[in-house]
Amino acid sequence: MKKNDVIENLTVEKLVFGGKWFTRMEDGKVIFITGGAVPGSVVNVRIIKKKSWFIEGQIIETVKKSPLEKEANCDIFWLCGGCKWQTIDYAKQLEIKDAQVKESLFHLAKYQENINIEAIEASPVIWGYRNKIEFSFGKFISDKLWVREDFNVGFHKQAEFSKIVDCSYCHLIDTESNAVFKKIKEFAQKSWLPVYDQMRQSGFFRHLIIRKAHFTNEMMLILGYNPKYDNWNFDLDSIKKFLLTLTKDFAEIKSIYLTSNANLADVALGDLELIYGNPVIVEELLGLKFEISPKSFFQTNSTGAEKLYSIVLDYADKEHLKDSTVLDLYAGTGTIGMTFAPFAKEVYSVEMVSDASKDGEKNAILNNITNMHFVNAKVEDFLKDFTQTGIKADLLIIDPPRAGMHPSALPNILKFDAAQMIYVSCNPATLARDLEFILANSQYKIEKLKAKDMFPHTHHIETVVSLKK
Ligand SMILES: C[S@@+](CC[C@H](N)C(=O)[O-])C[C@H]1O[C@@H](n2cnc3c(N)ncnc32)[C@H](O)[C@@H]1O
Repeated sequence: MKKNDVIENLTVEKLVFGGKWFTRMEDGKVIFITGGAVPGSVVNVRIIKKKSWFIEGQIIETVKKSPLEKEANCDIFWLCGGCKWQTIDYAKQLEIKDAQVKESLFHLAKYQENINIEAIEASPVIWGYRNKIEFSFGKFISDKLWVREDFNVGFHKQAEFSKIVDCSYCHLIDTESNAVFKKIKEFAQKSWLPVYDQMRQSGFFRHLIIRKAHFTNEMMLILGYNPKYDNWNFDLDSIKKFLLTLTKDFAEIKSIYLTSNANLADVALGDLELIYGNPVIVEELLGLKFEISPKSFFQTNSTGAEKLYSIVLDYADKEHLKDSTVLDLYAGTGTIGMTFAPFAKEVYSVEMVSDASKDGEKNAILNNITNMHFVNAKVEDFLKDFTQTGIKADLLIIDPPRAGMHPSALPNILKFDAAQMIYVSCNPATLARDLEFILANSQYKIEKLKAKDMFPHTHHIETVVSLKK
């Protein structure tokens, strides 16, 4: 059996890390399946990777539907890599995510027998929940599939990044964002300007980013083009003029940029030119205002983020918060820390991306918050230095990226002897690894934990854990 061979009639068993599904062949060999699998379905897969102990395969056909499977909400579901779980009922999606969190924490029983796992919390909105979307312009040409599409705007095809699947309506963004997308797509098509070709580095249109703040309705558009496109007939002013006309029909548009993007890599932002309105849009979460610039990191599900931050606030020991020093580690723009600032003595927001720290500083001023310190540093370096200052930290909030905490940071968080730690994780596997270190090397115990769904129809899971001595 080799790469590109097809294996037939595999029954999909369960979800494993990274959104892949798991099953075994008759000889016991493990297979990880990517694509829109549903547990219980029988599928044919094409081998995309082969190692000594496992095979990775991409679904090419469903032979027998799972009893759990329902119709997709979207006509490009099988090609687009976006929301692969949409054929699974939402309640079942939550059940699968809940089971995955429990399974990853199972081995912690040797350190703590009874772990209080609270019921998973759903996303308040399950369609149209994203406040940011990035469309790519490109072609979809395939001799194998008898397809020749020279002008597409949408998303990269599953497992074939160079092909762009055309989208006419994305169910993960709201109706206004879709309406603006439709207008821009129509204009681009009628302009006869070609889409960018990544292989040849030719063509004009590259990306379209739409950001729309859920609670304020403010919208930002960023249209990307290739500045090396050379055609005497071409006029950038006509594109600017068209984008400005959109503001008449869509009052929510508060900011429009063009981005001249000569990057060889498939990145969406190049040199930015503000052609309309404000350089930022504002989103409001839990009564706080946050400015979002084209490069800002911001949680993509605003209603979900409010709930996630509320769980963190709710888990914190409020009684002692007034006199507490809070460390918000891996803080991004300091949004979680900012929700604590009104209740705490002081908050240190620690983040390694300097733009994010700077955005955080601006947002603190916008919200009249004066007890926050924005530290632009790696958490592992900050902790080494901070443990020497003698400042006592009472509450640690830890929200690392998918890779979890840096190994050198883990022993240092224990040195604070903080009354409470709240770990927010987007990866149950690294969460389990870091919790194991904490439980094995300290007096901390898990007080409670809860999974929170922020990304319906995808495999992503957020988990909040409170640890106390
Ligand atoms: C999951 S995000 C958390 C963002 C933030 N808590 C929020 O809710 O918006 C993780 C953040 O950690 C930052 N980061 C990654 N590795 C880091 C490190 N070693 N030290 C400091 N920050 C780091 C990333 O830049 C990112 O902003």
